[in-house]
Amino acid sequence: MTILSMAGSSGALDPLPKRKMSYFSNRYVVGLTVTAGIGGLLFGYDTGVISGALLYIRDDFKVVSENSFLQETIVSMALVGAMIGAAGGGWVNDAYGRKRATLLADVVFTIGSLVMCAAPDPYVLIFGRLLVGLGVGIASVTAPVYIAEASPTEIRGGLVGTNVLMITGGQFLSYLVNLAFTEVPGTWRGMLGVAAVPAIIQFFLMLLLPESPRWLYLKNDKAKAIAVLAKIYDPDRLEEEIDMLAAASDDEVQPEKSVSYFDVFRVKEMRLAFFAGAGLQAFQQFTGINTVMYYSPTIVQMAGFSSNQLALLLSLIVAATNAAGTVVGIYLIDRCGRRLLALTSLSGVIISLLILSGAFFLQSTSLCGLHTLHGNCGTSLGWFAVVGLALYIGFFSPGMGPVPWAVNSEIYPEAYRGVCGGMSATVNWMSNLIVAQTFLTVVSAVGTAGTFLIIAGVAVVAFVFVALFVPETKGLTFEQVERLWRERAWGSDGSRQSLLAAEA
Ligand code: BGC
Repeated sequence: MTILSMAGSSGALDPLPKRKMSYFSNRYVVGLTVTAGIGGLLFGYDTGVISGALLYIRDDFKVVSENSFLQETIVSMALVGAMIGAAGGGWVNDAYGRKRATLLADVVFTIGSLVMCAAPDPYVLIFGRLLVGLGVGIASVTAPVYIAEASPTEIRGGLVGTNVLMITGGQFLSYLVNLAFTEVPGTWRGMLGVAAVPAIIQFFLMLLLPESPRWLYLKNDKAKAIAVLAKIYDPDRLEEEIDMLAAASDDEVQPEKSVSYFDVFRVKEMRLAFFAGAGLQAFQQFTGINTVMYYSPTIVQMAGFSSNQLALLLSLIVAATNAAGTVVGIYLIDRCGRRLLALTSLSGVIISLLILSGAFFLQSTSLCGLHTLHGNCGTSLGWFAVVGLALYIGFFSPGMGPVPWAVNSEIYPEAYRGVCGGMSATVNWMSNLIVAQTFLTVVSAVGTAGTFLIIAGVAVVAFVFVALFVPETKGLTFEQVERLWRERAWGSDGSRQSLLAAEA
């Protein structure tokens, strides 16, 4: 049964009355979003800056320059930390709230940055990377959920997308820092340590912000929840929101204590929701975004441009395009919906990957072989590859960048939002690590053309996955999304049967 037919089958998914609400119409929510989004900035800056910093770390620690395993560990330890941080952070979110989870992320991140900045040897540096990764992992699950729970339904996708803009903005900033310091030795301590500043700023700003109203309501702190909602909505709308929260909590069987990871797999509708959310996160990574983000200088060089400066400059352009595309995504996500945006994005990604694959294939054939690389043929193929890269980013960034984070912040019931969001963020980080660790190996096994062809194949599977399993959540309240899963799991009489199942 399709979502549309399900929507027709009951009034549960009827759209809300049309309201005028623009992204900037509520300054309080925008301020809260930007503050929470500092987590995204740390995420982007930290994952981007390490490739530049590593060049100087190698200069300072001879053992690192002689040992590529140590280099890989320095880079990937943050991803390992983020995997653990996202899983644990999801639980902290449900048990202790979004605000405490953010404060915890800031403390861990700040300590990690300072440890890296002062590291006397590579092993302490690796420990610092682990701490920073833990902080980024906690932030990666907390910021979207905190933002989504404070957002009016009509602009929720765009506001959660703002966190992704902070990620892509952070990556851009880190590339800029990398480029600015190309000629300055010994600057890695500053490059890594400076990230403590936004974390400290976020810590103090968060102290001024409230806990998420929905989490407060779940924990039966209704008066406080209503006080927070009153800052977000005008009196008419406030009443409506409170009524919806009250109806939802009557309707739902609330677990006595925080849910465990295991609970997610016991309830059918949770399994369906988690499958859709985690699948989106995995496909976001396996469609290759971070091969492009982490290796764009390498890809540009593979395409025949040998100058380091030019390669770094082109990757800065890639990062800027990524951030600009995210702005387009923020504009479109609540207008076209999550599904259309993701499907269009994936179609473009498939075409761009085929162009990239074609460019590298032609370059490796005898017609246009290596010996001509610096001749006309090689140069135009190099540009062909760069166009493929730009198209890839242009299509990826408005859709598959923000959609997985937005969908994961809104498809789980209140009591499971942290745990499920955390688990699927862990899937994202794990997939990120796998792709980053294997990209160059796969390139050396099947060639660059073959690698991009494989990724294009994955993107085709991702398209089918989104078409079949990801429901449209644009404009739906959290309560409507919950009913949507019950209906998917149990048919149109879903609510009753699911309650019976939960009671059994
Ligand atoms: C992804 C990151 C990625 C970034 C690039 C985010 O949505 O989760 O892994 O580096 O987009 O734009």
